[in-house]
Amino acid sequence: MVVVGNQWGDEGKGKVVDWLTDQAHGVVRFQGGHNAGHTLVINGQKTALQLIPSGVMRPGVACYIGNGVVVDPSHLQLEIGRLEAAGVDVCSRLHISESCPLVLPSHVALDVAREARRESCGVGKIGTTGKGIGPAYEDKVARRAVRAQDLKHPQRLAEKLRETLDLHNFMLRAYLHADEVPFASTYARLLELAGLVTPMLADVGDLIYKCHVRGERLLFEGAQGTLLDIDHGTYPFVTSSNCVAGNAAAGSGIGPGYLDYVLGITKAYTTRVGSGPFPSELPIDVPGTVGHHLHTVGQERGTVTGRPRRCGWLDTAALKRANIINSTSGQCITKLDVLDGLAEIRMCVGYRLDGKVIDILPLDADDIARCEPMYESMPGWTQSTAGVTRWDALPQAARNYLDRIAELSGTPIAMVSTGPDREHTIVLQHPFGV
Ligand code: IMP
Repeated sequence: MVVVGNQWGDEGKGKVVDWLTDQAHGVVRFQGGHNAGHTLVINGQKTALQLIPSGVMRPGVACYIGNGVVVDPSHLQLEIGRLEAAGVDVCSRLHISESCPLVLPSHVALDVAREARRESCGVGKIGTTGKGIGPAYEDKVARRAVRAQDLKHPQRLAEKLRETLDLHNFMLRAYLHADEVPFASTYARLLELAGLVTPMLADVGDLIYKCHVRGERLLFEGAQGTLLDIDHGTYPFVTSSNCVAGNAAAGSGIGPGYLDYVLGITKAYTTRVGSGPFPSELPIDVPGTVGHHLHTVGQERGTVTGRPRRCGWLDTAALKRANIINSTSGQCITKLDVLDGLAEIRMCVGYRLDGKVIDILPLDADDIARCEPMYESMPGWTQSTAGVTRWDALPQAARNYLDRIAELSGTPIAMVSTGPDREHTIVLQHPFGV
C-alpha cells in the first residue's frame, strides 16, 4: 500500500502510517529527506520523525529508506540518538539503500545562500526548509552525488567529495558570496558517520521484493504532498522530488505491478508552508475569523521549521487533480475535529480564470495565482467530533461534508482521523483489507 499526501504536505500522514503499521511488516520511505516532519502521538506522548519511517514506533516493524530519499547522515545520527534515548530500537530494524544520495553541509549552505539571493534579487524565496534537499537532488541528477555506498570506500569518498565540494565552493564563493565549506572537516565527519551508517546499508529493492514474495504487507510512506511534487506541483514553489504515488516504485526499487492500494491523506481544510499560490487561502492573524480558527485550533505550525502554516478552506478542485495523479483508491480525511464549532463550512469547488470556469487546479503557478476561487457552502456542526471512533457517532452535518468531499474529489473516504492519538480513528474500509 502507498500512503501519499493529497495537498501541500502536513496532512497528518505520520499518524495514519503509524496506525496502519499495526498491520504491516515493513514501512518504506521513497522520496524527500529530513525536510519532512511526521508527528506521532502515542499515549499522549509526541514524537517527531523526519527521515526515519513512521513505522519505527511499532516494535518489530522493519523500516526501509529507499534510493529515492536523500540522506543527511548527521541528521540521521541525531534522529537515531533521540529515538534510542527514548528506548526505541532503530539500528537493528533500519535498512538504508546504498544508492541514496547524501545531503552534505555544502548543500545546506547552498540552499540557505540561494534563498537569501532570491530574496535580495527580488525574485522571491521558495520558502524551503533550508535542509539542503534541493541542492542534493541537483547533484543526483547531475550524476555527481556522493552516495551512501561511497561511505564504505574512504578513498573513493575522498575523491568524490573533493570534486563535489570544489563545485559547491565555487558557487558559494563566486556566485552567492557566502562562506565556503572546508574539505578536511567535512571528510573527517563523514568518516566518523560511516561507522554508524554502513552497517545499515542494504539492497533495499531486493529486500522488499523478498518481503513481497513472502506475502508480507509493506507500506510505502510518502513525504510532503502531491501539490509540492517537482513535476505535478505548483512549480517552482515545490520540493525537489516526486511526491506522487507512482514514485513509490522508482524511489524504492520495487516494480509498480507490486503496488496495490493508494491511500490519499486529505486534511479537512488546506494548509501550506512556504511561498506559492494558494487559491482558497484565508488570513490567519485576525482573531474571530475562520483562518485564525484553523491556525490556532489546528496548531498549524511547521514541524521542521516552526514557521506558521498558511491556512484556508478545502479545495476539492485541487484534490481532484491529486486523486487522479495518484490513482487514489481511498482517502483518509484528517483533522476533522478542527472544524468543530464553525457555523458554515466552505469548499473551493472550482475557479474563475480569464472569464472561464474551471473545475481542476491549473498546472501553471502564475495561472493558479490569478484563479478566483468559487465556493460551495455547507452548514457546520456544533457537537465535538474529537476522538470519535464510529461513523454513525459523527454529527449528520459532518457526515454530509465528508460525503460531499468524496463526491467532488472523485474518491471514496476510507478513514477519518478525529484527533492526534492512534485511537482517534474511524475506519470505513481498511486499506489493508483486514
Ligand atoms: P524544500 O523541500 O526544503 O526544498 O522546500 C520546498 C518547499 O516544500 C517549501 O515550500 C517547503 O515549505 C515545502 N516543504 C518541504 N517539506 C515539507 C513538508 O514536509 N511539509 C510541508 N511542506 C514542506
